[in-house]
Amino acid sequence: MRNEDKSRGSIEVICGPMFAGKSEELLRRVNRLIYAKKNFVVFKPALDDRYSINEIVSHSKRSYKAFNVTKSSEIMRHVSAKTEAICIDEIQFFDEGVIDVIEELADRGLRVIVAGLDLDFKGEPFDITAKLLARAEEVTKLTAICMVCGKEATRTQRLINGEPASIDDPVVLVGASESYEARCRHCHVVKK
Ligand code: TMP
Ligand code: MG
Ligand code: ZN
Repeated sequence: MRNEDKSRGSIEVICGPMFAGKSEELLRRVNRLIYAKKNFVVFKPALDDRYSINEIVSHSKRSYKAFNVTKSSEIMRHVSAKTEAICIDEIQFFDEGVIDVIEELADRGLRVIVAGLDLDFKGEPFDITAKLLARAEEVTKLTAICMVCGKEATRTQRLINGEPASIDDPVVLVGASESYEARCRHCHVVKK
């Protein structure tokens, strides 16, 4: 591989709470890859079946076809010598192995764009996202609008029957506005 090709590889992370437009931003970058006639592949974890199995979909229902993968090792199977970029949505749901896969592809010269939650409903970092944020060349941290006070939201509130979820509840609960809303630091509540 030529040196100038290698220097093009990089990691971009789009993070923030739910309803901040992370998937929208990922789709915007996908659109630009299409216009630039780049050879790229899009992935999402099998876990996220909210709107579609084989597309990434934003809350405002924009979509693009994606490979549904259950393990990070499956990503490599869809990457060829021609692939110039890969995009991954819901990165927080991947296994730890995804970090090595992403590093390897960026080192090879690919542009790797990932989107995902930085914090869980408790306000604790998602491990995979945190590690990728530290390794990324470019970070975009998006905010949503707090559904209580209308200010910038950096957190995701989980609500069970309208009540704040408990600190002991499992981290993974796939859902959308029936279970979650965007909140600012001050309006975010975790039942202790
Ligand atoms: P979104 O960021 O595209 O809106 O989707 C986030 C997904 O993550 C959604 O299915 C809900 C889920 N989720 C969890 O499993 N645990 C959490 O703590 C949070 C905040 C979201
Ligand atoms: Mg999304
Ligand atoms: Zn607020």
